Amino acid sequence: MAPAISAHTIGFHYGKHHKGYVDNLNKLVAGTEFADLPLESIITATAGKADKTAIFNSAAQTWNHTFYWHSLKPKGGGEPPVVLKQKIETSFGNLDACKKELATAATAQFGSGWAWLVLDGGKLKVVKTGNAGAPINTGMKPLLTIDVWEHAYYLDYQNRRAVRAG
Ligand SMILES: [Fe+2]
Repeated sequence: MAPAISAHTIGFHYGKHHKGYVDNLNKLVAGTEFADLPLESIITATAGKADKTAIFNSAAQTWNHTFYWHSLKPKGGGEPPVVLKQKIETSFGNLDACKKELATAATAQFGSGWAWLVLDGGKLKVVKTGNAGAPINTGMKPLLTIDVWEHAYYLDYQNRRAVRAG
């Protein structure tokens, strides 16, 4: 992913942070009613429940990170596939406007969180979520996400979150 994201950052992000959420989730659900549930079901069952916050956070962060890795590819960018491009043009006007809205959401999210491109009722939209929040089980279908937790960029960019967003 270099030069956009260094191997050092990916190594920490995947090997320490993502793995930490998975390990923690496995520990928290062991022997509980959640132990054998699919990840999405754990997220739905614990969302908004004060006594299940720790499980929700680890489950949602596990899901979000898996989705994030699938949002990345080496030498990415370029023209989107035709059907997606048409939807982008219908919803945002053009690809640059879509990118700009994503970048704005990513830089405007206060503190930790995520910026998402989602399909909502046939239209594309940009939304952001705080902390472990994920736009799943909301009727919106996530298509792409940007992790804006500091651990996603701090080793490479320190506090300059906006540098790669332009
Ligand atoms: Fe992350």
